[in-house]
Amino acid sequence: MHLISPSLLSADQGNVAQAVTMLSESMADWIHFDVMDGLFVPNISFGFPLLQAVRKITTKTLDVHLMVVEPERYIERFRDAGADVLTVHYEASRHLHRTIEAVKSAGMMAGVALNPHTSVELLVDILSVADMVLIMSVNPGFGGQKFIDQTYNKIERLVNLKAKYRPDLLIQVDGGVDLSNKQILIDAGANVLVAGNAVFSAPNPLAVIAELKS
Ligand code: DX5
Ligand code: ZN
Repeated sequence: MHLISPSLLSADQGNVAQAVTMLSESMADWIHFDVMDGLFVPNISFGFPLLQAVRKITTKTLDVHLMVVEPERYIERFRDAGADVLTVHYEASRHLHRTIEAVKSAGMMAGVALNPHTSVELLVDILSVADMVLIMSVNPGFGGQKFIDQTYNKIERLVNLKAKYRPDLLIQVDGGVDLSNKQILIDAGANVLVAGNAVFSAPNPLAVIAELKS
């Protein structure tokens, strides 16, 4: 079984409520919420007020991806704003073990995201505490970029580490996921697929979500 987490970053930002309503009625399992601070990544997206507003109108799991330096500063605030899953970047947190423990103590599922240049082997000492690893399959900061093929190799290596250190780990893939690569990713061992552009640039987003889920 794999989960689909459509990314709100690619939705029409003037009609986010409409997009959330559509996602609530879709086969999507989670809603992916990309927070960018203009420092960790060269872009700024959205934050607490929008997350709170989204929380009010959906019961779907809110999957928050923090592309923010020192994300430990904001753990409780994201929990209070409605996050169910909180993913921080390996590259952005100096005391990652402490940060992951704090996310879990705050009552959320804890994810660790890796930029394309960061090796999955760096996670061996943290895999037993993290609930999910998010493999970035593009450089973070923007939707609609081209999928990086080295991702398949990273998933394969993470699947081996998962068998050894954390059999129930979720492996999330984020960036350039679409109908052409989703089956390869699932077969490789991905359990959560994020899709922004593939869903929101389609004439029928509901149908694309259903196909990604099938
Ligand atoms: C990129 C974000 C992604 C993005 C994915 O920094 O983390 O979640 O929204 O968008 P697509 O699917 O268009 O690559
Ligand atoms: Zn993301």
